[in-house]
Amino acid sequence: MYKQLHFITFIVLSTCILNIVWSQKAGKLNPEVHPTMSWETCGIDGNCTTNQGQVVIDANWRWVHSEQGTNCYTGNTWNPTFCPDDKTCAQNCYLEGAQYQSVYGVTTHEDSIRLNFVTQSQGKNIGSRLFLMENETNYQMFYVLGQEFSFDVDVSKLDCGLNGALYFVSMDSDGGTSRFPTNEAGAKFGTGYCDAQCPRDLKFISGEGNVDGWVPSSNNPNTGVGGHGSCCSEMDIWEANKMASAFTPHPCDVVGQNMCSGDTCGGTASSNRYGGECDPDGCDFNPYRMGNKTFYGPGLDIDTNSVITVVTQFLTSDDTPTGTLTSINRLYIQKGEIVSQSQSTIEGVEGNKVNDQFCMKQKEVFGDPDSFTKHGGMQQMGKALQNGMVLVMSLWDDYFADMLWLDSSYPVNGTTTQPGVLRGPCSTTSGVPADVESKYPDAYVIYSNIKVGPIGSTYKNLKK
Ligand SMILES: *[C@@H]1O[C@H](CO)[C@@H](O)[C@H](O)[C@H]1NC(C)=O
Ligand SMILES: *[C@@H]1O[C@H](CO)[C@@H](O)[C@H](O)[C@H]1NC(C)=O
Ligand SMILES: *[C@@H]1O[C@H](CO)[C@@H](O)[C@H](O)[C@H]1NC(C)=O
Ligand SMILES: *[C@@H]1O[C@H](CO)[C@@H](O)[C@H](O)[C@H]1NC(C)=O
Repeated sequence: MYKQLHFITFIVLSTCILNIVWSQKAGKLNPEVHPTMSWETCGIDGNCTTNQGQVVIDANWRWVHSEQGTNCYTGNTWNPTFCPDDKTCAQNCYLEGAQYQSVYGVTTHEDSIRLNFVTQSQGKNIGSRLFLMENETNYQMFYVLGQEFSFDVDVSKLDCGLNGALYFVSMDSDGGTSRFPTNEAGAKFGTGYCDAQCPRDLKFISGEGNVDGWVPSSNNPNTGVGGHGSCCSEMDIWEANKMASAFTPHPCDVVGQNMCSGDTCGGTASSNRYGGECDPDGCDFNPYRMGNKTFYGPGLDIDTNSVITVVTQFLTSDDTPTGTLTSINRLYIQKGEIVSQSQSTIEGVEGNKVNDQFCMKQKEVFGDPDSFTKHGGMQQMGKALQNGMVLVMSLWDDYFADMLWLDSSYPVNGTTTQPGVLRGPCSTTSGVPADVESKYPDAYVIYSNIKVGPIGSTYKNLKK
């Protein structure tokens, strides 16, 4: 039985910028001006200080062109003159600066960021993926092992089939420029993406084009699958719409960004999903899937009609930031009340926290392959958290599985009495990208109030 929990890879399948491509040199036709966004670091007694950060849109959304301004990539095919092979392509092509609001529908205000779903300009843009930066040239590294991470989210405009995702991946802080000098654009242009699906739809990986073996997508005029993929550890803090939500650790054997080849990449884009170095399924906690159908949703205990504060705690064996990751705990704050994650009501799977025991039991009872334990489980995830990870914020729809793995019954032909099949209340015919894009073009997600600090520090000064 296949359970495909994670389709971050397919964000790019839904990028519909016409005639837009990107590359590995820094373009100069449009200035790259990063929207600013602040966040807070908290001390043990709940005292928080503000950091002035900025965000950058992923390179995969950008126009990629030759020195004279000719597209290196159009629709879903490479220009054979500029991109006859991986290396030449990186030499010839430039990644262009982004117009955040008018082209990509991205705006920031103080400590918040809003991502619009459909943005019509010269082309039609669907969703986006952004990274938080420390400065103009480097991503902000987050060290959350033994710490807690909190943020506010507004999912009220996200219907079935949409996914507002906030997560960590083990990207290089400079976007890969020091390890791969042929990547001259770097983090300033949002390069170096990787995740636990080892995505193969990226146009550039590790300082090279992804031209060799590129197969244009059959169902999406803007994307394809290349001969290489980009793997790294991934910690999904939040994948959600207003009907369902999940958090999911995905360990990899190699912690940091690492290029893979062809179907040995594993993940959603490869024929052998479980054949790679990463755990493509992860170990998810989705309250609905764990048996509580009245916990999360419009008007429910966690009311998705209003803003939710989401707190995630990464507990270690010795309560220090150098210990072994033992448990990931979740709580919510809404209307001044602290609400614990709902308890699993699935027979044989106990608790409301993610730990090795929970994961092994859950895989067994749900009948899912245990790729989480195979790739090192909590301990391996902890290594990635300890090394520092980059914060990703995105909004996407799913050209591969209509997001049914998050908010509906999945697999679609599974018996709904089989534990694990029901994940949310959405219909099995929902989530088709063409429908979602035409029915909810005005959808958006807002992330704000990001805080990091010792356990309990980010909500210590909660006024009841
Ligand atoms: C919080 O206060 C303590 C002592 O009052 C100080 O040492 C620490 O640096 C402060 N932390 C932050 C993040 O402001
Ligand atoms: C940006 O941050 C990186 C990582 O902390 C640092 O090495 C670099 O010097 C900073 N650059 C600027 C221009 O401040
Ligand atoms: C769902 O979770 C809420 C909050 O923890 C609890 O009050 C309720 O009884 C749970 N419902 C079920 C069916 O377990
Ligand atoms: C469900 O569909 C999948 C894919 O078409 C198939 O491989 C699987 O055998 C089906 N399972 C059942 C229980 O019919």
